[in-house]
Amino acid sequence: METKVVIIDEKNIDESLIKEAAEYIKMGEVVAFPTETVYGLGADALNAEAVKKIFQAKGRPQDNPLIIHVADFDIKKYVKEVPEKAKKLMEKFWPGPLTIVFNKQDIIPDETSAQLKTIGVRMPSSEVALKLIREVGTPIAAPSANLSGKPSPTRVEHCIEDLSGKVPFILGGEYSEVGVESTIVDITGDKLCVLRPGGITLSMLKEVDEEVYIDPAVMEKPREDFKPKAPGMKYRHYAPKAPVKIICGELQKTVAKINEMVQNYKDDGKRVAIIATDETKAMYKEGVIVSVGTRTDIQTVGKNLFKVLREFDDMDVDLIISEAFDEYDLGVAIMNRLKKSAGFNIIYV
Ligand code: TXA
Ligand code: MG
Repeated sequence: METKVVIIDEKNIDESLIKEAAEYIKMGEVVAFPTETVYGLGADALNAEAVKKIFQAKGRPQDNPLIIHVADFDIKKYVKEVPEKAKKLMEKFWPGPLTIVFNKQDIIPDETSAQLKTIGVRMPSSEVALKLIREVGTPIAAPSANLSGKPSPTRVEHCIEDLSGKVPFILGGEYSEVGVESTIVDITGDKLCVLRPGGITLSMLKEVDEEVYIDPAVMEKPREDFKPKAPGMKYRHYAPKAPVKIICGELQKTVAKINEMVQNYKDDGKRVAIIATDETKAMYKEGVIVSVGTRTDIQTVGKNLFKVLREFDDMDVDLIISEAFDEYDLGVAIMNRLKKSAGFNIIYV
């Protein structure tokens, strides 16, 4: 399949490109498009045949549900009820990086929700995404626009790399501002439960509901018999070609440990990459050293993480060693993604 790629200027949106992308989706095709979290691979959420094409293009397991993207607060057609707490979340965090899991209406095909009775709904803040949803006229089902297992795309180049020849149309825009996927909150239980940490942090959610908690399974290594509430959590994810190890502890000790490891691997003829920060990058002696941003601005680290993980694929390295980040605010989401990319291979120093 030939893939048409167009780049849109998000500061001066060319409506004809939005219309062109929308036409593909209305015809039952899939289109990659930018959002403020990561790029999405979208199809008409109400069209089961179209939705199947998303799973095919990504190589996504059939039991992993999609979230739907809306541009309107009135979602009664798609979800059973909107409890008071959900209303508050929507008012405070939509449009933005928050997905809310509701009980779904039958109009949402089982293909979209992967047979679940619930559906995740998000209103993105990206103007391009919002315009596209409005132009299509139905919600857009969209997972991240990466091949299953790879780090999510934060730039159009990543989408082209993964989906060229597999989808008919890629709508490119800006570098995704948040850089990690949306926070997912399940509101169908007794208490609000975070199924995936993201740009809307726990402390932000607590402003709406004190009792909200993070599903303990989120930060742990999944057991063999693990049946997570968010099915996607059990799959290997965010993985570059080379294995990843995380070194966790006080910063000086972390740097010393990484230097020692890199030297040992070098003696064995292995090439090691280091995920460093602006504060530490000058402290490393050997290896391919890449800074993911400054520790004083964790948002920048979030924005760069997936890009950095992808860069190593072209560098021919045998191992990637990463510093850890404080599991606080956006750091929770960053460490969640890093741990998954490392298959929970963590060395504490
Ligand atoms: O920021 C985002 O959320 C991006 C952009 C494109 O909007 N989308 C995204 O979708 O990250 P995806 O499919 O890559 O990740 C969605 C996650 C998966 O782990 C899936 O298992 C979980 O959400 N999920 C979807 N529907 C669910 C549901 N009804 N209940 C529990 N988890 C659900
Ligand atoms: Mg994904």
